[in-house]
Amino acid sequence: MTTIRRATADDAPTLRALMRELAENQGHAAQVAVSVDRLADLLTRPDVGYLIAERDGKAIGYVSWLQRVSFWSGQDYLALDDLYVCSEERGAKVGEHLMRAISEVARRRVIRWEVAEANVAAQRFYRRIGATLVSKKICRLVGDTTV
Ligand SMILES: CC(C)(COP(=O)(O)OP(=O)(O)OC[C@H]1O[C@@H](n2cnc3c(N)ncnc32)[C@H](O)[C@@H]1OP(=O)(O)O)[C@@H](O)C(=O)NCCC(=O)NCCS
Repeated sequence: MTTIRRATADDAPTLRALMRELAENQGHAAQVAVSVDRLADLLTRPDVGYLIAERDGKAIGYVSWLQRVSFWSGQDYLALDDLYVCSEERGAKVGEHLMRAISEVARRRVIRWEVAEANVAAQRFYRRIGATLVSKKICRLVGDTTV
């Protein structure tokens, strides 16, 4: 049976392993540099949320987010960070359950996230569950390293 629950700091080792799987999946394995202790700390922050999907007690996926505020609307929203289901568990609606669960957490708040242009399967999945997709470029700038 698949269940979904809020993660706690004790889940940090499991979550980091799943985050590494997702990053490997997307060819960015080296980018998951967070330590288990740091992740455990982050999991105690009130603006950070993680839901874990488990089947028969084994973690098989997660969704993570940050609570943010829109200065234009003055409203809080959830910035979804990762959605991941282990490859051998895909196609069994675990991803859909995780999205429904974050939507229950959000209540009336908007949920926003990014998806790679190349990830057409995930885009189809998001459209199917009712999300609106808008194209934008993502900009990154490393802060001044001389101060
Ligand atoms: C996207 C993802 C979370 C969906 O989880 P899931 O449990 O398979 O989702 P569901 O069973 O509820 O729905 C299956 C849908 O996911 C899509 N999908 C995306 N990648 C898939 C994959 N590798 N295998 C099977 N289905 C996949 C299917 O096309 C299907 O959509 P469709 O019914 O419109 O054809 C999961 O495939 C995944 O973790 N993919 C890799 C990570 C990723 O791309 N995350 C999103 C980053 S923005």
